[in-house]
Amino acid sequence: MTVNLTDSPPVKQLLDRVAGLDQPGGNDRLKRIVRRVTSDLCRTMEEFDVTPSEFWTAVSYLTRLGQANEVGLLVPGLGIETFLDVMMDEKERRAGLTGGTPRTIEGPLYVAGAPLENNEARLDQDPEQGEVLFIDGQVRDTASNPVAGAIVDVWHANTKGGYSFFDPSQSAYNLRRRIETDAAGNYRLRTILPSGYGCPPNGVTQQLLTALGRHGNRPAHIHFFVEAPGYRKLTTQINISDDPYLHDDFAFATRDELIPDLVRHTDPGEIKARGLNEPFATIRFDFTLNSEAAQLPDPVVMREHAEAA
Ligand code: BEZ
Ligand code: FE
Repeated sequence: MTVNLTDSPPVKQLLDRVAGLDQPGGNDRLKRIVRRVTSDLCRTMEEFDVTPSEFWTAVSYLTRLGQANEVGLLVPGLGIETFLDVMMDEKERRAGLTGGTPRTIEGPLYVAGAPLENNEARLDQDPEQGEVLFIDGQVRDTASNPVAGAIVDVWHANTKGGYSFFDPSQSAYNLRRRIETDAAGNYRLRTILPSGYGCPPNGVTQQLLTALGRHGNRPAHIHFFVEAPGYRKLTTQINISDDPYLHDDFAFATRDELIPDLVRHTDPGEIKARGLNEPFATIRFDFTLNSEAAQLPDPVVMREHAEAA
């Protein structure tokens, strides 16, 4: 097809009416976005000469995606959640906000309301044979001052890559805690080394990824929200550095600054001193928070979150 149907007067008029541009009421910004999205879709369909059967296959795919509650899984898989980060990073860079710990995606598996503890917490409450991991660090501002009373909200998968709440075999809030930093801005935790998450192999997201010749695996990682009054909320993750998917994350969340050294301890004296009888691992990770900036969009994302009963 060589005719440009999308830009023809009748289709332009159709799309204007679709977006309510010929009506006085409604939300102006939404109208302009709907106008752009529908015309971009028409242009794509025209360019690729999409058949009605292909189109309705896509509609049925999206219907099943929603029914399976996997929209939040496909969005990062298509790089859109990372693109939101790219846009926010650029706004902060232009406003001169530098030096903070890099953000990376939240993902769809956060659960609000994890137990709040002072300075230190143990996250693994379900019995599981995992390698013990200790993490400690400090929350600071960009001038290296400690941030006391910051809340480090941490969550991660178990050794099978499953997250409590979404994985009914785990107890409520297993591997999820909120830790308030002490007067010197420090936090520490004990947990077990997670495994990487994988999309459900027979799921709707994986179906599209497979059709794109892609896998649906994430490297092992640990999520954090870090917040304190007067600072921009940080949403980030750290990666477990020896994971084979470290630089091949289906959700595009790996950032070089977020790959701390994983130190393995095998010395019997050290093991005993920790009250353990097997080798363990440690990570040191400090967070740097940017100060609040009134001219920038709020980094606190309005997003529906589950809350365990
Ligand atoms: C995760 O954090 O584990 C995750 C992120 C994006 C998609 C699926 C899972
Ligand atoms: Fe995750």
